[in-house]
Amino acid sequence: MKLEGRVRLPGFLLALRFLALVLWSFPGARALDNGLAMTPTMGWLHWERFMCNVDCQEEPDSCISEKLFMQMAELMESDGWKDVGYEYLCIDDCWMAPKRDSEGRLQADPKRFPRGIRRLADYVHSKGLKLGIYADVGNKTCAGFPGSFGHYDIDAKTFADWGVDLLKFDGCYCDSVEHLEKGYKRMSLALNRTGRSIVYSCEWPLYMWPFRKPNYTEIRQYCNHWRNFEDVYDSWQSVKSILAWTSSNQKRIVDVAGPGGWNDPDMLVIGNFGLSWDQQVTQMALWAIMAAPLLMSNDLRHISPQAKALLQDKDVIAINQDPLGKQGYRLRKEDNIEVWERPLSDLAWAVAMVNLQEMGGPRFHTISIASLGQGLACIPDCMITQLLPEKRKLGFYQWTSDLKTKINPTGTVLLRLAAT
Ligand code: GLA
Repeated sequence: MKLEGRVRLPGFLLALRFLALVLWSFPGARALDNGLAMTPTMGWLHWERFMCNVDCQEEPDSCISEKLFMQMAELMESDGWKDVGYEYLCIDDCWMAPKRDSEGRLQADPKRFPRGIRRLADYVHSKGLKLGIYADVGNKTCAGFPGSFGHYDIDAKTFADWGVDLLKFDGCYCDSVEHLEKGYKRMSLALNRTGRSIVYSCEWPLYMWPFRKPNYTEIRQYCNHWRNFEDVYDSWQSVKSILAWTSSNQKRIVDVAGPGGWNDPDMLVIGNFGLSWDQQVTQMALWAIMAAPLLMSNDLRHISPQAKALLQDKDVIAINQDPLGKQGYRLRKEDNIEVWERPLSDLAWAVAMVNLQEMGGPRFHTISIASLGQGLACIPDCMITQLLPEKRKLGFYQWTSDLKTKINPTGTVLLRLAAT
């Protein structure tokens, strides 16, 4: 039921359009006032792919060392990653020496980072990129390296002196919920006091959930993004469970996201071993819908052209980075097909349809256009482009029309509806 021509816009439809503009432009809760992460952070983070490999003798190419980060920095610049927006090259756990130095400062493992973090930051900056680092609010990092408890100011200052641009602050080894909350707040203030622009990536709600419901309005005032749920693994089971958690908690978490503060469903594992092609498409599409930080954890030295093209897809990245900064949500689930939607700037919408049935072949699914965007997504008509699994212009559709799609098992069809 494609619409061939354009129709005139009657008065009441104009009024509806105006209403949509007002509704979707309403600002979210107050964000951390550091001017950063106005769109979700994009970059690379070592954890999922390289974990805590400290054995540079046996595995020189995959141990956590300055060599690994220098190689990734080179590739981020030369292979088009930086050009599409992947900017932050981030170190996770296991970079530290087992003890602080004589002045109480954290120090990098001298064997694996012989030139130190400052020199690594200079190198990363020379490539036009930014450097992220990792520390922990508690007594130890999750892998057992020195924690920041009791050292928030000195650690913030050390990171700023080194030229660090992002801090991932983990929540292991805290004695109490109070310690956790106070620690996350104190580190935020300590980072601000350094005067350096440092994106603050928290895991505060994830560690809070077992004790009490996190206060997201407050978390947003201190953090640029925050992990809510378990670590991502290189598996469909893991990606599926992150989506399930997100949709079942969407009433609590969606509205709080916006420029300056984002829900973080964890790293993109596209380009690794565990996801089929369709599952990789699902992760990319849904991370765009969720306005998630796009932090890849893969090996940029060995990545298939297909995975690279997916991660570098400018249309999908544009949805993730949409300046309106509204997180999408699951609209409905019927018969194992989920429909997600996200309002975009210029009255456009992104719509994702996920086929969660892991049996049988591709399934057809028909959506009525009028059911999208609370009835406001396509008034009186719109131009629909399919972005994933491959780009295809579908043409003009009327508000009253239906759209039939075909979705592979565990795959997703991602659409962009543009106002005409
Ligand atoms: C926790 C975090 C992970 C990673 C590891 C490092 O599990 O959630 O993202 O940083 O610690 O030890």
